[in-house]
Amino acid sequence: MDNFTFYAPTYFVFGKATENETGKYVKRFGGSKVLIHYGGGSVVRTGLLDRVKKSLEAENLGYVELGGVRPNPRSGLVYEGIRLCRKEKVDFILAVGGGSTIDSAKAIAAGVPYDGDFWDYYQGRVVEEALPLGTVITISAAGSEGSADSVITKEEGMYKRGATGEALRPKFTIMNPALTQTLPPYQTACGITDILAHLYERYLTNTKDVECTDRMIEGLMLTMLHEGPRVMENPDNYEARANIMWAGMMAHNNSCGVGRSQDWTSHDIEHELSAMYDCAHGAGLAVVMPAVFTYNLKHDVLRLAQLAVRVWGCQMDFGNPERTAKEGIEALRRFLISIGMPKNFGELGAQEKDIEKMAHSCCYGDGRTGTTGGYVSLNQQDVENIYRLML
Ligand code: NZQ
Ligand code: ZN
Repeated sequence: MDNFTFYAPTYFVFGKATENETGKYVKRFGGSKVLIHYGGGSVVRTGLLDRVKKSLEAENLGYVELGGVRPNPRSGLVYEGIRLCRKEKVDFILAVGGGSTIDSAKAIAAGVPYDGDFWDYYQGRVVEEALPLGTVITISAAGSEGSADSVITKEEGMYKRGATGEALRPKFTIMNPALTQTLPPYQTACGITDILAHLYERYLTNTKDVECTDRMIEGLMLTMLHEGPRVMENPDNYEARANIMWAGMMAHNNSCGVGRSQDWTSHDIEHELSAMYDCAHGAGLAVVMPAVFTYNLKHDVLRLAQLAVRVWGCQMDFGNPERTAKEGIEALRRFLISIGMPKNFGELGAQEKDIEKMAHSCCYGDGRTGTTGGYVSLNQQDVENIYRLML
């Protein structure tokens, strides 16, 4: 196991009706004037925004609002949010919504105290200072509610990039699984896919002897394989949604990623797709993951074969472990199709003619230096080959 430090001090408040306590937690973590940030309107339609505002008012907290975050959140609204916070002397950011809203809120939180352009953080500068931030999540997917990361798309050039820094971890996160019951099935499935992807990105490691985190990842994957179909079958299944919500947070706050190298190839390759076609991140991952795993299969056949046996229930073929590893990838592909995810470029709305451009952006765009991938180092030609496997 590699040396590591791990500090993830988010205060989680889990369960039914917990959103009514939001104001109490804003106060507890030092907020007095709040920016409420939200998305395209689901939180207005469900009445959640009103309940959250009421809880702030009950604590005599002032607030301003900024809605309109879109999936694959854009830099333009971040600049607007930073200006608004400075003008209104906001001292606490509250994200009410999904990963896109949380990521936009994190970008604003980092941008307000920073003299330079907030985009510097999305080009590799570590976020060391940010306004405190809390979240009320409405979809189990990105894991941003517990992560130290944020992903934003810069409108100029359409670069989708991530920033990181402990200062971005939410002070608190309100998790009421019932809030996810209003999700369209497609978004629920995208979330399930993203959670599985966060687990695969960590499982694919070059670090030896990481049994503890291997087993944690496998346990979370098995949870998703059990609960995912249950929630697709019955969207009102609170218990299944509760298990998925906690698994989604655990998959990405990095408790199962410490002490080991990680991959993130599938995410890098997917981010080019969602930047280019504005597709849902989870849907893009459903198409990308089987292609990446197939392309990298020979790097460490036993790792994927182990996963195939322990998670996908495949029989180990000791004479030909590559066959077992491939069976595991096929089982993943079948699972993703069964929950309604796209399986190729066409179904995603992607086009062959854009492959070279996306591969170039993935390896060289916005200051990158020519390769991607923490598990296997891939160049532009490799990335093009992987996109071609998705046709
Ligand atoms: O905008 P509204 O109207 O709220 O609608 C949203 C949106 O259209 C809707 N929705 C969310 N909760 C709902 C709901 N509709 C009805 N009822 C509810 N309860 O769902 C749609 C998708 O929302 P979004 O926030 O985009 O979803 P998600 O949480 O999947 O976030 C995706 C973004 O997170 C990034 C992705 O790249 C993508 O930009 N990621 C962030 C990470 C992080 N910060 O750590 C890691 C991830 O790997 C990921 O890359
Ligand atoms: Zn993701």
